[in-house]
Amino acid sequence: MLLWREKIPDFWLPHVRSDLGSVLNDHAHLERKAATSALNLEKYPELWEHVSELNAIAIEELQHFELVLRLMRERGVPFTVPKKSPWISGMMQEVRKGRRGQCIDHLVVCALIEGRSCEKFQVLAEGVRDLDPKLADFYASLVESEGNHYATYLIMARHIDLPETEERLDYFLNLDAQLIGRPNPNPMLH
Ligand SMILES: [Fe+2]
Ligand SMILES: [Fe+2]
Repeated sequence: MLLWREKIPDFWLPHVRSDLGSVLNDHAHLERKAATSALNLEKYPELWEHVSELNAIAIEELQHFELVLRLMRERGVPFTVPKKSPWISGMMQEVRKGRRGQCIDHLVVCALIEGRSCEKFQVLAEGVRDLDPKLADFYASLVESEGNHYATYLIMARHIDLPETEERLDYFLNLDAQLIGRPNPNPMLH
């Protein structure tokens, strides 16, 4: 996993622990959007050679989505409207316009979302064990898959243009460091 420039703020875990139901609803939407993002990446001709790989990611994310929905049903948590993540929208806003640059940025941002999810699931696997051991096991089971998605997206971007990807990764890692410490009023993954 890459070297983040800022660690997850200390307030994040207690905030998430305070309302696991809302976090599950947020997580369900995150998996749904991850599936959508994988399919949206298929619009770029630069990625047409990877279309089956992207379909495989979309299928995996939909499976994660279903697993989260099942955990929600078991806990009586309703599937409801998603809240906007200031961290994700802050990152997405900086995706450049223009096909090739947009494709590279889109991949880099998707990689960082997957990377932060992977890191946060690792924290949650231990951090909610006392509250909900089954949920803790579920988070642990997602770590490898989200880590692979992170690596796959970054490899795809580097395959298009290595120096430009490194430059944009540097840019988005700085942005992540700025945004991650900002308090979010809603308990969410990102
Ligand atoms: Fe996922
Ligand atoms: Fe993922």
